[in-house]
Amino acid sequence: MDALEEICIICAFLSVRKVFYFRERECAMPTKGAKKIAIIGAGNVGSVLGYALKQKGYELTACFARTEKSRQKAAELLGCPAYEEPEKAARQAEIVFLTTPDRVIEEVCDGIAKQGGFRREQIVLHTSGAHSSEILSAAKEAGTGVLSFHPLQTFPGLEAGLRALPGTFFAVEGDEKVFKVAEELVEALGGRSLAIPTEMKPLYHAAACVACNYLSTLMDVALRMYGVMDVSAEQAFASLSPLIHGTLRNIGEMGPEKALTGPVARGDLSTIEAHLKSIKALAPELLTFYNCLGVYTADLAYRKGTLSREQAEQLKNLLGG
Ligand SMILES: NC(=O)c1ccc[n+]([C@@H]2O[C@H](COP(=O)([O-])OP(=O)(O)OC[C@H]3O[C@@H](n4cnc5c(N)ncnc54)[C@H](OP(=O)(O)O)[C@@H]3O)[C@@H](O)[C@H]2O)c1
Repeated sequence: MDALEEICIICAFLSVRKVFYFRERECAMPTKGAKKIAIIGAGNVGSVLGYALKQKGYELTACFARTEKSRQKAAELLGCPAYEEPEKAARQAEIVFLTTPDRVIEEVCDGIAKQGGFRREQIVLHTSGAHSSEILSAAKEAGTGVLSFHPLQTFPGLEAGLRALPGTFFAVEGDEKVFKVAEELVEALGGRSLAIPTEMKPLYHAAACVACNYLSTLMDVALRMYGVMDVSAEQAFASLSPLIHGTLRNIGEMGPEKALTGPVARGDLSTIEAHLKSIKALAPELLTFYNCLGVYTADLAYRKGTLSREQAEQLKNLLGG
């Protein structure tokens, strides 16, 4: 064998090793069947997900909370050791949930990585709606699969959270290689999954805030208008409730365009003028809100086809849009 042949054989050997090395790295990440879970931040969401997954046969191997009181509560509920150091809890699991408040997820993840709490066989996920899996870059650098796994649900406490879980949608984003694990978790939780592109995660969350938080604001504005007439919030809501539920049902059945009724959809300018006059006189602080939503409603009516472009523009001018 001459020197050239020898070099060729060594190169071939090294490249084969490289291929095996990369295959090994890929295979080291569990794509399904991972069962050992650690909950880092066993508060409202962490406790509900941990408890529900335990009922479905997942093994809760460790948890972490910041205060002693929360640690005791979590250990009792989840039936696993509660650690004072998050990295110690993370080491015990294949799936690591980081369910701390949004503002510290990245910091907690960085801290665990610095202390050697992650290894490449693990999957690390957080449950924030606003952030993508990119804030878990320290875990990714340690070789783990990373996901954001946002339950599109509200969790005020354990009982209400467990009640609300079935049918909840989970927005899943991150390493496609570990989507299988996310699917298994969603299935075990009785939910449904929704894939979100990484760069659109904040937009997804903004949409959820509009549907949930802005709905509260919308109701509050209507109740304040009733308040000007000295109608209590309870009475006001009771009277509006059938209208609200009927509208929601219609939106669900036929979509917002077809469900839209009222003076904007009909192009009744004189009615809108009467609204504006009354709001200016009795509740001027609510005028901007009324105008702003009216402008978007005029566009919706144009899309519905009951207003011409000209009528929609005329209405928007009246509303200052
Ligand atoms: N609650 C919801 O309705 C809801 C819905 C969807 C998604 N989420 C998301 O789920 C995640 C958790 O929310 P949550 O409502 O469950 O929060 P939470 O009830 O306040 O629980 C937070 C957990 O993190 C721990 N923690 C607090 N500050 C910490 C810090 N500086 N360092 C380390 N750990 C800390 C807490 O420990 P102590 O109890 O000892 O303070 C607790 O275990 C967030 O990303 C949130 O956006 C929440």
